[in-house]
Amino acid sequence: MLAGYGLPMEIEIRPTRPDEYRTACNTMCRALLTPPPNDDRWAKSLPAWELSISYSAWEGDECVGHAANLHVETTVPGGAALDTGAVTWVGVLTTHARRGAGTGLMRALVDDAAERGWPLLSLRASEATIYRRYGFGVAGDFAAVEIDARRARPVRGAAPGAMRLLTADEFPAVVDEVYRRCLDRRPGLITRPEPWAERHFQAVGEGKENALVAVHLDERGEPDGYVYYTTSWAETLDQGGRGKIHDVFAVSDDVELALWRYLLTIDLVETWTSPGRPIDDLIIEAVADRRAHRVTSVMDEQWLRLVDVDTALAARTYSPSGGEGIVVAVVDPMIEANNGRWHVDGSGARRTDEPADLIADIDALSALYLGGMSWRTEAAVGRVRPGPSVEDARLRGVLAGADHLFSVKPLPFCGTFF
Ligand SMILES: CC(C)(COP(=O)(O)OP(=O)(O)OC[C@H]1O[C@@H](n2cnc3c(N)ncnc32)[C@H](O)[C@@H]1OP(=O)(O)O)[C@@H](O)C(=O)NCCC(=O)NCCS
Repeated sequence: MLAGYGLPMEIEIRPTRPDEYRTACNTMCRALLTPPPNDDRWAKSLPAWELSISYSAWEGDECVGHAANLHVETTVPGGAALDTGAVTWVGVLTTHARRGAGTGLMRALVDDAAERGWPLLSLRASEATIYRRYGFGVAGDFAAVEIDARRARPVRGAAPGAMRLLTADEFPAVVDEVYRRCLDRRPGLITRPEPWAERHFQAVGEGKENALVAVHLDERGEPDGYVYYTTSWAETLDQGGRGKIHDVFAVSDDVELALWRYLLTIDLVETWTSPGRPIDDLIIEAVADRRAHRVTSVMDEQWLRLVDVDTALAARTYSPSGGEGIVVAVVDPMIEANNGRWHVDGSGARRTDEPADLIADIDALSALYLGGMSWRTEAAVGRVRPGPSVEDARLRGVLAGADHLFSVKPLPFCGTFF
């Protein structure tokens, strides 16, 4: 045996002390196939770590795993903003994987959020096979897209007004103000903690990749929307230039379309791409040639977990024409208080003793919560089941009623990666 190396010891999960953040970061980076940060990168990362609620897994004095969350607010259907733990930096060293450290860390984050009274946890998953067992479901997808600017023009429905490019000094305050005003535009949008906003706009701040923020000004000269994009010159003269879209946020649909009109008329850029746009993006119907807009892939965007079903169900709105409503029984093996029955109708959701129409596993309810997913589909795959008195003939109608109550337009979207 190698001197100083013993047999595996028990793994301890505990809050990370601030003087351990860098060690924990190095562990998490190794698990996520990223080199540990140098001093410069670490200095940039530290503010986010200082805001985080960090748990780590230790074998003796070796940090073998890490998971954290940062506080954000998630917009839910109807416009309320719910306290949310945004789970991030999850990783266990390969040498210590599959020994329960990941589960212990997730358990710690779930318990921590419950103690703080945060009704939601949210995350972006490296792999779609990890988080369902902890009660997370996919509450929203997003699409990678490619747009042929020449075929897309002209854009319909754009508001009048002017566009202005912002300097590196100007953009943070303007973008922050406009973004906040846009948060009620779709369920699933989240507040951006300052260190994450800085990282999101890093290229603009540092003047890299020809990254630009352009703002739309209304007729009074007030900012009411912005785009964040990068452009690159064609590699050879017979090719068109390319642009990449990071953010398109506006306070109204016509201003959003004005931002698109601006992008799609930038000279020399023939092809625009975006790694993540809403599935029901407005621009799809606003282009001149529908096939100018192409979805290149659709992926799960936000994974959500209801930590407090009572508060979460009561906080969102439901379709007012949803009839008598439905009674949903929830099954949550991790959080005892979430096991119960709720009557949901157009006026809201409340606990009830009535018999259940539908029985939903917590990962299914979490997926359905933002209104972008289907009860019928969840039932088809067995994560939602009929209540004891719902015979087969009635089930279709009950599921259609549940879909009607919960569904929202526009669909959930977040647009912030963490
Ligand atoms: C994901 C990760 C943190 C899990 O940690 P872990 O300590 O191995 O997890 P556990 O030992 O608690 O495993 C719990 C269960 O999840 C399963 N599981 C864990 N990681 C999995 C994965 N990547 N794919 C499929 N199943 C996985 C285990 O097989 C186990 O299943 P079981 O309960 O049926 O036996 C770890 O694999 C990792 O660091 N992966 C690389 C980095 C990464 O992807 N991080 C997530 C960023 S979002």
